[in-house]
Amino acid sequence: MKPLAAGNWKMNGLKASVSEIMALKDRLDGTAPACDVLICPPATLVMSLADAAAGSVIQIGGQDCHSAVSGPHTGDVSAAMLKDAGASAVIVGHSERRADHGETSETVKAKAQAAIAEGLVAIVCLGETLAEHEAGDTLSVVHAQLNGSLPDGATGATTIVAYEPVWAIGSGLTPTAEQVAEVHQAIRAGLSAMTSAEEAHLIRILYGGSVKPSNAAELMAIDNVNGALVGGASLKADDFAGIIAAM
Ligand code: PGA
Repeated sequence: MKPLAAGNWKMNGLKASVSEIMALKDRLDGTAPACDVLICPPATLVMSLADAAAGSVIQIGGQDCHSAVSGPHTGDVSAAMLKDAGASAVIVGHSERRADHGETSETVKAKAQAAIAEGLVAIVCLGETLAEHEAGDTLSVVHAQLNGSLPDGATGATTIVAYEPVWAIGSGLTPTAEQVAEVHQAIRAGLSAMTSAEEAHLIRILYGGSVKPSNAAELMAIDNVNGALVGGASLKADDFAGIIAAM
């Protein structure tokens, strides 16, 4: 399956950041990346980045959506709004949202289902905290999050899973290749049990947490790693182009 290089800009980026998309477009122009390319900017930039990326391989996504289509939810953005603005995908259940906004796996599942109902691809994030990691609970935490967050009827066309150990995000730390392989294998087995063996092999499983140009090739070579979800290193076109080249 074709890997995905997905960039998560988090709460970074102003109008001037459109220049990074133009730069990335230039860097990719004439190349045929071996992966799909997605940038998820803050909601305020989805429309301008989608316009700037038009005609290129770069797709634009959101970082979160509400589970309702519309209504009295001050400050929230619906999947339909993201789609209308030019998004093709949306991240749901990022650990920063689970931690900062108390999102449960049940909420994340509802958001993923709302996204898919609007025709967006849902990127469902899972990952253990440092304390859970040190307690040896990684697999049970990830399994519980997968069980609780995976949208009903998930397929390779509608759903992507991202494994992001919380302690690896923005820290410069990454798990060993063996640890990544073990968790991704467990996620694949979980997907098999929840969908079917055939479908589970069509659902991409991304690794995220301190991915950079210098470690991307090694991480992407691990079994059952089908792409990367990249925070800090997606903010600069040069760094992200380096990761895309490593796919
Ligand atoms: P990072 O963030 O690449 O800056 O570690 C990854 C993420 O949170 O998606």
